[in-house]
Amino acid sequence: MSSQRDQFSSKLGFILAAAGSAVGIGNLVGFPVAATKSGGGAFLIVYALFVIFICLPVMLAEMGMGRRAQKSPLGSYMELAKGRKIWHLAGLLAVLTPFMIAIFYMVITVWIFGYLVQSLGGNLDQLASPGYFSAFVNDPWFLGYFVAVTAICNLILVGGVRQGIERAAKFLMPALFVMLLLLVVFVLNLDHAELGVEFYLIPDFEKITGSVINNALSQAFFSLSLGMGILMTYGSYFRRSDNIVTSGKWVAVTDTAVAFIAGLMTLPAIFAIDPSTNPETLSNSSVSMVFSFFPKIFMALEASVGYFFASALASVFFLLAFVAAITSLVSIIEVPTAAYMEQKRVSRGKSLVLMTIMVTLLTLLTAASFGLVPALQQVAHYAGADKSVFDLIVDVFYETILPLNGLLLCLFVNWRWRRENLEEELAEGNPGYPQTFFAKYVRFSISTIIPLVLLVVFINTVLTKFF
Ligand code: PHE
Repeated sequence: MSSQRDQFSSKLGFILAAAGSAVGIGNLVGFPVAATKSGGGAFLIVYALFVIFICLPVMLAEMGMGRRAQKSPLGSYMELAKGRKIWHLAGLLAVLTPFMIAIFYMVITVWIFGYLVQSLGGNLDQLASPGYFSAFVNDPWFLGYFVAVTAICNLILVGGVRQGIERAAKFLMPALFVMLLLLVVFVLNLDHAELGVEFYLIPDFEKITGSVINNALSQAFFSLSLGMGILMTYGSYFRRSDNIVTSGKWVAVTDTAVAFIAGLMTLPAIFAIDPSTNPETLSNSSVSMVFSFFPKIFMALEASVGYFFASALASVFFLLAFVAAITSLVSIIEVPTAAYMEQKRVSRGKSLVLMTIMVTLLTLLTAASFGLVPALQQVAHYAGADKSVFDLIVDVFYETILPLNGLLLCLFVNWRWRRENLEEELAEGNPGYPQTFFAKYVRFSISTIIPLVLLVVFINTVLTKFF
């Protein structure tokens, strides 16, 4: 027989690796800013409800499918479809999606790495100067940063599941928590910090509109790494004797807690610098917040703490963002890597070489779409605007296909694989599960409200993004 599939050594190893995937830039900036602009505490409630009632069952279904099939998402769909070839397409999409998202996430991670290097080098004043970011994205140094990030990613992935992904997560995740808490404590002690906390937490239910609800679900889906084949892949590395349900809950709690705590860093920092900030005017884009806004915040601290300390804080922030990003990037590259290893029966090393070549080509193409190659700035035109390669990848794969993948998963569980099989899989290592109220809820919702909600979000996103 072939050698045994590489596995996480423990539940904790899995939880840290999956939480490492889930905790990303979306948590640090995207979530806090979205919450503040969209009703503060009211948004938090809507978000939490989505996590519990929509996302968690989808997460368990992904993990359950992967563990049952012991395969990558492509192999899992192929195996559990039992001959219905049409479902192989869903498997292909579940591998293509992470591959494409990996490209845009790679670009952002490389920028973060660049900002980290610059702030460590004492160049915070430059990072904070107007127009720096637009020049930075076309700087040839991108290549150097890219090589470094690719090397770090490959170093982790070549070790495999236990010696690579799990080992890195066990070291990086605690480091992430410590850095986050350090920054929160520091920021909360600044003057006017309480204003940010108020905007973030005081609920304003009037702001909860249809589009806010839609965004809350998309944010939760993305934040928990759903629809990207990641949890199916990680699920296939999860031991049979371990409890998927409690582990999944821990991952969801950790991800949501980090997002919530990050709000206690991001918002107070914004208001401490300028107490008259109007939350409505904050940018919706995490990218412009991280790269244009945050350096200004740290630079503004110079007056009270001095340039050296302000640079040190900026470095901690970018290191935190980098750790959050790299653990997500690793998880998403693992999906096509594992699928290729399995389908072509090649070694991990060979598969990684191929992935590195493909990711490099596409990343450079995407990076060149910020002005270096003007043609790449206008590869599509919709919703009244020219779109670059980067925009196209974000709009199609991240905004639109994620809920579609979730929907296909629910349909597959209902009509092909069958809910009873999912339940049986979730009861492995957790024999009391089928009798729980939660099990009854999962059984009911996965064939009713969850696919319905995902269908509405999918259609709404297509209509608002592309027309
Ligand atoms: N959950 C990540 C975030 O919030 C998103 C992500 C995960 C992106 C994995 C890529 C890969 O940023």
